[in-house]
Amino acid sequence: MKMLLILKAPMFTNYENLQMSDKPLQALVTGANRGLGLQFVKQLSALGWRVFACCRNPQHADKLSDLAQASNGKISVHTLAVEDGAQIQQLAKQLQGQAIDLLINNAGMYSGGVSERFGHTSTPDWLHVFQVNTIAPLKMAEAFAEHVAQSQQKTIATVTSKMGSIADNTSGGVYIYRSTKAALNMVMKSLALDVEASGIKVALLHPGWVKTDMGGPNALITPQQSVAGMLEVILNLGWQDSGRFLAYDGTEIEW
Ligand SMILES: NC(=O)c1ccc[n+]([C@@H]2O[C@H](COP(=O)([O-])OP(=O)(O)OC[C@H]3O[C@@H](n4cnc5c(N)ncnc54)[C@H](OP(=O)(O)O)[C@@H]3O)[C@@H](O)[C@H]2O)c1
Repeated sequence: MKMLLILKAPMFTNYENLQMSDKPLQALVTGANRGLGLQFVKQLSALGWRVFACCRNPQHADKLSDLAQASNGKISVHTLAVEDGAQIQQLAKQLQGQAIDLLINNAGMYSGGVSERFGHTSTPDWLHVFQVNTIAPLKMAEAFAEHVAQSQQKTIATVTSKMGSIADNTSGGVYIYRSTKAALNMVMKSLALDVEASGIKVALLHPGWVKTDMGGPNALITPQQSVAGMLEVILNLGWQDSGRFLAYDGTEIEW
Protein backbone atom coordinates (compact mmCIF):
# COMPACT_ATOMS: atom_id res chain seq x y z
CA MET A 1 0.00 0.00 0.00
CA LYS A 2 1.49 3.36 -1.02
CA MET A 3 1.44 6.27 1.43
CA LEU A 4 0.35 9.49 -0.24
CA LEU A 5 0.33 11.95 2.62
CA ILE A 6 1.32 11.86 6.24
CA LEU A 7 -1.39 13.51 8.29
CA LYS A 8 -0.27 15.09 11.50
CA ALA A 9 -3.05 17.30 12.81
CA PRO A 10 -6.23 16.44 11.01
CA MET A 11 -8.70 18.51 13.09
CA PHE A 12 -9.48 21.85 11.48
CA THR A 13 -6.15 22.25 9.76
CA ASN A 14 -5.62 25.78 8.48
CA TYR A 15 -6.40 25.90 4.77
CA GLU A 16 -6.38 29.69 4.42
CA ASN A 17 -3.78 29.44 1.68
CA LEU A 18 -6.60 28.06 -0.47
CA GLN A 19 -8.34 31.42 -0.43
CA MET A 20 -7.25 32.93 -3.73
CA SER A 21 -9.74 35.81 -3.79
CA ASP A 22 -12.04 37.63 -1.38
CA LYS A 23 -14.96 35.45 -2.46
CA PRO A 24 -15.57 32.55 -0.07
CA LEU A 25 -15.00 29.09 -1.45
CA GLN A 26 -18.24 27.21 -2.10
CA ALA A 27 -19.12 23.54 -1.62
CA LEU A 28 -22.16 21.41 -2.39
CA VAL A 29 -22.69 18.32 -0.21
CA THR A 30 -25.22 15.51 -0.78
CA GLY A 31 -26.68 13.51 2.11
CA ALA A 32 -25.89 16.45 4.38
CA ASN A 33 -28.43 15.83 7.15
CA ARG A 34 -26.53 13.20 9.15
CA GLY A 35 -23.35 11.14 9.39
CA LEU A 36 -20.40 12.13 7.24
CA GLY A 37 -22.42 14.62 5.17
CA LEU A 38 -23.43 16.66 8.21
CA GLN A 39 -19.81 16.59 9.40
CA PHE A 40 -18.59 17.88 6.01
CA VAL A 41 -21.01 20.79 6.36
CA LYS A 42 -19.79 21.53 9.91
CA GLN A 43 -16.09 21.44 9.07
CA LEU A 44 -16.33 23.32 5.77
CA SER A 45 -18.42 26.11 7.30
CA ALA A 46 -15.99 26.30 10.25
CA LEU A 47 -13.26 26.85 7.66
CA GLY A 48 -15.24 29.77 6.22
CA TRP A 49 -16.76 28.03 3.21
CA ARG A 50 -20.25 28.74 1.84
CA VAL A 51 -22.08 25.40 1.77
CA PHE A 52 -25.07 24.26 -0.29
CA ALA A 53 -26.26 21.39 1.90
CA CYS A 54 -28.56 18.89 0.18
CA CYS A 55 -30.80 16.29 1.77
CA ARG A 56 -33.93 14.31 0.98
CA ASN A 57 -36.16 15.78 3.68
CA PRO A 58 -35.17 19.25 4.91
CA GLN A 59 -38.27 19.36 7.12
CA HIS A 60 -36.87 16.40 9.10
CA ALA A 61 -33.25 17.58 9.09
CA ASP A 62 -33.21 19.27 12.49
CA LYS A 63 -29.44 19.25 13.10
CA LEU A 64 -28.73 20.62 9.63
CA SER A 65 -31.47 23.26 9.94
CA ASP A 66 -30.04 24.43 13.29
CA LEU A 67 -26.58 24.70 11.72
CA ALA A 68 -27.98 26.64 8.76
CA GLN A 69 -29.92 29.01 11.01
CA ALA A 70 -26.84 29.81 13.07
CA SER A 71 -24.62 30.23 9.98
CA ASN A 72 -25.39 33.80 8.95
CA GLY A 73 -26.34 32.66 5.47
CA LYS A 74 -23.19 30.56 4.98
CA ILE A 75 -25.21 27.33 4.84
CA SER A 76 -28.36 26.86 2.77
CA VAL A 77 -30.44 23.69 2.73
CA HIS A 78 -31.74 22.19 -0.54
CA THR A 79 -34.06 19.26 -1.21
CA LEU A 80 -32.32 16.51 -3.16
CA ALA A 81 -33.00 12.78 -3.46
CA VAL A 82 -29.98 11.90 -5.57
CA GLU A 83 -31.70 9.26 -7.71
CA ASP A 84 -34.19 11.91 -8.86
CA GLY A 85 -32.72 13.26 -12.11
CA ALA A 86 -35.32 16.03 -12.36
CA GLN A 87 -34.41 17.31 -8.89
CA ILE A 88 -30.72 17.31 -9.82
CA GLN A 89 -31.46 19.35 -12.95
CA GLN A 90 -33.68 21.75 -11.02
CA LEU A 91 -30.97 22.38 -8.41
CA ALA A 92 -28.28 22.84 -11.08
CA LYS A 93 -30.52 25.45 -12.72
CA GLN A 94 -31.29 27.15 -9.42
CA LEU A 95 -27.54 27.43 -8.74
CA GLN A 96 -26.66 28.49 -12.30
CA GLY A 97 -23.87 31.08 -12.22
CA GLN A 98 -22.62 29.90 -8.80
CA ALA A 99 -19.04 28.68 -8.79
CA ILE A 100 -18.84 25.40 -6.90
CA ASP A 101 -15.27 24.80 -5.75
CA LEU A 102 -16.02 21.41 -4.26
CA LEU A 103 -18.86 19.06 -5.17
CA ILE A 104 -19.07 16.27 -2.59
CA ASN A 105 -20.96 13.14 -3.60
CA ASN A 106 -21.47 11.76 -0.11
CA ALA A 107 -25.01 10.32 -0.12
CA GLY A 108 -24.99 6.56 -0.20
CA MET A 109 -26.87 3.56 1.08
CA TYR A 110 -26.24 0.11 2.44
CA SER A 111 -29.30 -1.99 3.08
CA GLY A 112 -27.40 -4.28 5.42
CA GLY A 113 -30.33 -6.64 5.08
CA VAL A 114 -30.83 -10.19 3.97
CA SER A 115 -30.90 -9.14 0.30
CA GLU A 116 -27.11 -8.63 0.45
CA ARG A 117 -26.60 -12.39 1.02
CA PHE A 118 -25.97 -15.26 -1.38
CA GLY A 119 -29.25 -16.99 -2.15
CA HIS A 120 -31.34 -13.97 -1.13
CA THR A 121 -30.22 -11.12 -3.41
CA SER A 122 -33.12 -8.91 -4.47
CA THR A 123 -33.02 -7.41 -7.96
CA PRO A 124 -35.25 -4.39 -7.14
CA ASP A 125 -33.10 -3.59 -4.05
CA TRP A 126 -29.94 -3.96 -6.13
CA LEU A 127 -31.19 -1.65 -8.88
CA HIS A 128 -32.23 1.00 -6.37
CA VAL A 129 -28.88 0.96 -4.56
CA PHE A 130 -27.11 1.07 -7.94
CA GLN A 131 -29.05 4.22 -8.81
CA VAL A 132 -28.12 5.91 -5.54
CA ASN A 133 -24.51 4.73 -5.08
CA THR A 134 -23.29 4.53 -8.69
CA ILE A 135 -25.40 6.45 -11.19
CA ALA A 136 -26.32 9.47 -9.06
CA PRO A 137 -22.72 10.64 -8.39
CA LEU A 138 -22.09 10.77 -12.15
CA LYS A 139 -25.40 12.53 -12.78
CA MET A 140 -24.37 15.12 -10.17
CA ALA A 141 -20.99 15.55 -11.88
CA GLU A 142 -22.68 15.96 -15.27
CA ALA A 143 -25.15 18.51 -13.93
CA PHE A 144 -22.59 20.54 -11.95
CA ALA A 145 -19.46 20.25 -14.14
CA GLU A 146 -19.91 23.81 -15.41
CA HIS A 147 -20.39 25.20 -11.89
CA VAL A 148 -17.20 23.40 -10.79
CA ALA A 149 -15.23 24.43 -13.89
CA GLN A 150 -15.88 28.12 -13.19
CA SER A 151 -14.59 27.88 -9.57
CA GLN A 152 -11.13 28.33 -8.07
CA GLN A 153 -10.59 24.84 -6.63
CA LYS A 154 -12.37 22.82 -9.33
CA THR A 155 -12.76 19.57 -7.41
CA ILE A 156 -15.32 16.77 -7.40
CA ALA A 157 -15.01 14.43 -4.40
CA THR A 158 -16.90 11.16 -4.12
CA VAL A 159 -17.19 9.02 -1.02
CA THR A 160 -16.77 5.38 -2.00
CA SER A 161 -15.87 2.38 0.17
CA LYS A 162 -13.08 -0.13 0.60
CA MET A 163 -15.95 -2.67 0.39
CA GLY A 164 -15.81 -1.89 -3.35
CA SER A 165 -12.19 -3.06 -3.60
CA ILE A 166 -11.93 -6.41 -5.38
CA ALA A 167 -8.36 -6.83 -4.11
CA ASP A 168 -9.53 -6.34 -0.53
CA ASN A 169 -12.47 -8.75 -0.70
CA THR A 170 -11.51 -11.70 1.48
CA SER A 171 -14.87 -12.31 3.15
CA GLY A 172 -17.39 -12.48 0.28
CA GLY A 173 -21.08 -11.58 0.52
CA VAL A 174 -22.47 -8.01 0.62
CA TYR A 175 -23.18 -8.33 -3.11
CA ILE A 176 -25.21 -5.19 -3.59
CA TYR A 177 -23.13 -2.67 -1.64
CA ARG A 178 -19.80 -4.07 -2.80
CA SER A 179 -20.76 -4.14 -6.49
CA THR A 180 -22.28 -0.64 -6.49
CA LYS A 181 -19.14 0.83 -4.91
CA ALA A 182 -16.81 -1.14 -7.23
CA ALA A 183 -18.79 0.23 -10.19
CA LEU A 184 -18.68 3.71 -8.66
CA ASN A 185 -14.88 3.47 -8.59
CA MET A 186 -14.82 2.73 -12.31
CA VAL A 187 -17.24 5.57 -13.02
CA MET A 188 -15.07 8.04 -11.08
CA LYS A 189 -11.90 6.87 -12.84
CA SER A 190 -13.50 7.60 -16.22
CA LEU A 191 -14.82 10.92 -14.93
CA ALA A 192 -11.33 11.94 -13.78
CA LEU A 193 -10.01 11.37 -17.30
CA ASP A 194 -12.97 13.10 -18.97
CA VAL A 195 -12.92 16.31 -16.90
CA GLU A 196 -9.16 16.78 -16.76
CA ALA A 197 -9.30 19.01 -19.84
CA SER A 198 -11.76 21.29 -17.98
CA GLY A 199 -9.23 21.63 -15.14
CA ILE A 200 -11.33 19.53 -12.74
CA LYS A 201 -9.76 17.05 -10.31
CA VAL A 202 -11.62 14.03 -8.95
CA ALA A 203 -11.03 12.75 -5.41
CA LEU A 204 -12.24 9.20 -4.75
CA LEU A 205 -12.24 8.48 -1.04
CA HIS A 206 -12.81 5.63 1.40
CA PRO A 207 -13.79 7.38 4.65
CA GLY A 208 -12.55 4.62 6.96
CA TRP A 209 -14.90 2.58 9.16
CA VAL A 210 -16.80 5.41 10.79
CA LYS A 211 -19.24 5.64 13.71
CA THR A 212 -22.36 6.76 11.83
CA ASP A 213 -25.76 5.13 11.37
CA MET A 214 -24.20 3.16 8.52
CA GLY A 215 -20.89 2.30 10.22
CA GLY A 216 -22.49 1.48 13.60
CA PRO A 217 -21.16 2.02 17.13
CA ASN A 218 -18.27 -0.46 16.84
CA ALA A 219 -16.63 1.45 14.00
CA LEU A 220 -13.03 2.56 14.45
CA ILE A 221 -13.12 6.32 13.96
CA THR A 222 -15.42 9.29 14.50
CA PRO A 223 -17.02 11.36 11.73
CA GLN A 224 -14.83 14.27 12.90
CA GLN A 225 -11.63 12.26 12.29
CA SER A 226 -12.83 10.85 8.98
CA VAL A 227 -13.97 14.15 7.50
CA ALA A 228 -10.93 16.09 8.74
CA GLY A 229 -8.75 13.48 7.03
CA MET A 230 -10.79 13.47 3.82
CA LEU A 231 -10.71 17.28 3.63
CA GLU A 232 -6.96 17.25 4.09
CA VAL A 233 -6.64 14.81 1.17
CA ILE A 234 -9.17 16.66 -1.01
CA LEU A 235 -7.75 20.13 -0.44
CA ASN A 236 -4.19 18.98 -1.12
CA LEU A 237 -5.08 16.81 -4.12
CA GLY A 238 -2.52 16.98 -6.92
CA TRP A 239 -3.13 16.06 -10.55
CA GLN A 240 -1.35 12.76 -9.98
CA ASP A 241 -3.99 11.88 -7.35
CA SER A 242 -7.05 12.64 -9.50
CA GLY A 243 -9.04 9.42 -10.05
CA ARG A 244 -6.96 7.40 -7.56
CA PHE A 245 -8.62 5.27 -4.87
CA LEU A 246 -7.49 6.82 -1.58
CA ALA A 247 -8.40 6.39 2.07
CA TYR A 248 -9.20 9.28 4.44
CA ASP A 249 -5.61 9.15 5.72
CA GLY A 250 -4.13 9.50 2.23
CA THR A 251 -3.09 5.87 1.77
CA GLU A 252 -3.78 4.32 -1.63
CA ILE A 253 -6.22 1.40 -1.81
CA GLU A 254 -5.86 -1.35 -4.40
CA TRP A 255 -8.76 -1.54 -6.85
N1 LIG B 1 -19.74 4.87 7.86
C1 LIG B 1 -18.84 4.08 7.29
O1 LIG B 1 -18.14 3.32 7.97
C2 LIG B 1 -18.63 4.13 5.79
C3 LIG B 1 -17.63 3.31 5.25
C4 LIG B 1 -17.39 3.36 3.88
C5 LIG B 1 -18.12 4.20 3.08
N2 LIG B 1 -19.11 4.97 3.62
C6 LIG B 1 -19.83 5.86 2.70
O2 LIG B 1 -19.88 7.16 3.26
C7 LIG B 1 -21.04 7.87 2.76
C8 LIG B 1 -21.80 8.48 3.93
O3 LIG B 1 -22.16 7.42 4.80
P1 LIG B 1 -22.54 7.62 6.35
O4 LIG B 1 -21.69 6.69 7.10
O5 LIG B 1 -22.58 9.06 6.70
O6 LIG B 1 -24.01 6.97 6.30
P2 LIG B 1 -25.36 7.38 6.99
O7 LIG B 1 -25.12 7.85 8.37
O8 LIG B 1 -26.25 6.18 6.79
O9 LIG B 1 -25.88 8.60 6.10
C9 LIG B 1 -26.21 8.38 4.76
C10 LIG B 1 -26.61 9.71 4.17
O10 LIG B 1 -26.93 9.50 2.79
C11 LIG B 1 -28.23 10.00 2.54
N3 LIG B 1 -28.93 9.31 1.48
C12 LIG B 1 -29.17 7.98 1.36
N4 LIG B 1 -29.88 7.74 0.25
C13 LIG B 1 -30.09 8.94 -0.33
C14 LIG B 1 -30.76 9.37 -1.51
N5 LIG B 1 -31.38 8.52 -2.31
N6 LIG B 1 -30.77 10.69 -1.80
C15 LIG B 1 -30.16 11.58 -1.02
N7 LIG B 1 -29.53 11.24 0.13
C16 LIG B 1 -29.50 9.94 0.45
C17 LIG B 1 -28.96 9.83 3.87
O11 LIG B 1 -30.13 10.64 3.89
P3 LIG B 1 -31.44 10.23 4.77
O12 LIG B 1 -31.18 10.71 6.16
O13 LIG B 1 -32.55 10.97 4.08
O14 LIG B 1 -31.59 8.75 4.70
C18 LIG B 1 -27.87 10.28 4.82
O15 LIG B 1 -27.79 11.67 4.86
C19 LIG B 1 -21.83 6.83 1.96
O16 LIG B 1 -21.58 6.99 0.59
C20 LIG B 1 -21.27 5.51 2.45
O17 LIG B 1 -21.41 4.47 1.50
C21 LIG B 1 -19.37 4.97 4.95
